[in-house]
Amino acid sequence: MQGKRILLIVGGGISAYKIPQLIRLIRGAGAAVTPVLTASGAQFTTPMTLSVLAGEPVHDTLWDRNAEAEIGHIQLSRQADLVVVAPATADLMAKMAQGAANDLASTLLMATDKRVLIAPAMNVRMWDHPATRRNLATLRGDGILTVGPGSGDMACGEFGPGRMAEPDAILAAIRTALAEGPLKGRHVIVTSGPTHEPIDPVRYIANRSSGAQGAAVAAALRDLGARVSFVTGPAAVPAPQGVEVIAVETAQEMRDAVEAALPADAAVMAAAVADWRILNGSDQKIKKGDSLPSLQMAENPDILAWISRAAQRPRLVVGFAAETQDVVAHATAKRARKGCDWIVANDVSPATGIMGGTENAVTLITEAGDEEWPRMAKGDVAARLAARIAEQIG
Ligand code: C5P
Repeated sequence: MQGKRILLIVGGGISAYKIPQLIRLIRGAGAAVTPVLTASGAQFTTPMTLSVLAGEPVHDTLWDRNAEAEIGHIQLSRQADLVVVAPATADLMAKMAQGAANDLASTLLMATDKRVLIAPAMNVRMWDHPATRRNLATLRGDGILTVGPGSGDMACGEFGPGRMAEPDAILAAIRTALAEGPLKGRHVIVTSGPTHEPIDPVRYIANRSSGAQGAAVAAALRDLGARVSFVTGPAAVPAPQGVEVIAVETAQEMRDAVEAALPADAAVMAAAVADWRILNGSDQKIKKGDSLPSLQMAENPDILAWISRAAQRPRLVVGFAAETQDVVAHATAKRARKGCDWIVANDVSPATGIMGGTENAVTLITEAGDEEWPRMAKGDVAARLAARIAEQIG
C-alpha cells in the first residue's frame, strides 16, 4: 500500500470511535489518509483526533473558501487511490444510492472517479429494513465494494448484523481493493454453493455442497485483481470479502443473477445447482395427512450450458463436474455437451471426503486434453485455477 492515498469518509455512527485505529493501521501499512468528517460523524469522533493521526487536516465542509482555492472538492475526490466510507450509516448509503450531493462527503462520493469501499454500520432493524436492502443492492450494482457488517452485540443493546467490520478487516478489504494483479480490469462471475428448491414455505430440496471451493475460487480471482460477482446459493462457508456478493436461493434465481451480472470476461460455475425444482410446490405448509404428498419435478435451467451459448458469452467459461465414477470420461463428455471451455472435474464419492471437506483432487479438462492435479487444499486448487484463468484472459 506504499504511496497510496485513501480518502476516508467518516459517517455518524458510534463505531466511528474505531476510526482512529483504522487510520493508524492504514498509515502503518504505508498509505496516506485524507480524512473527511460528516457533521454527524463529528458527534462521535473529533476532527483533532483524526487530523493528528492522519497527519493531515480534516475536511468537513463544502463551503471552505480556503480549501476550495487550494484544492477543491473535486480534486480531493480524484487525488485518492480509493475512497473508503466507515462507518457507512444508513443515511450515507441512502444518499449514495440516490446520488445526493448536499454536503462534502456526498459530493465527494458523487465526484470521484475511484473505487469506493463502504463499511456499513447501523442498528439491526435499520440494516434489515427494506430501504437499506434496496440501497445496498443499488450500490452493489453500481460497483461499490462492501466490507461487513458483522454480527454481534450492538452499542444500542440489540444483537445481530449491523456491527461495523473491525479495523483489521477493513484494512484487508482496502488491500484487496487496491490490488493490482494480472486480472485488474477483468470481471469474472463465480457461482457457488448449493441451491434450495422449495417444496413449501418450510421445506426444500438441497444438496451437500458447502460452497467452499467456489468461495476459494472467488477469493483467488479477487487476489489477482479481478472484479468478482459472486452469485451464491445458501452456502455453509461465508462469502469472501472484497467480492460483490449476490445471494440467491433457487436455480432460477441463480440464472437470473448471472444474467444480470453480464457482461463478464470469464465465468466460473462452481455451484452445485439442483437439477430439478418442485413443480407442484405449495404456498402453505403441507400438512401431514392421510396420503403421502407426491412431488412433481421440473427441470431447472442449466446455467453453464446456457451461458456457454449466450449472446454475451464470456471469453472463458469454466464448469465443474462432480462425479462419483469414470470421472474423466464423464467430465470430458460434459465439456462437449455444455459447450464450456474448461471443466474442473472431481471425484465426490463419500470415501474421498471432498464434498464438504477442505481438500480437493481435480482434473482440469481443456480442449488440449486432461491434466490431473495432485490432491491439495481447496484454496490451492483455487489459486492454481485463478492463475490459469489469468494466463487466458489477463
Ligand atoms: O450437469 P452437472 O450438474 O454435473 O454439471 C456441473 C456443472 O454445471 C457445474 O459447473 C455446475 O455449476 C453447472 N450447472 C449449472 N446449472 C445447472 C446444473 C449444473 O450451471 N442447472
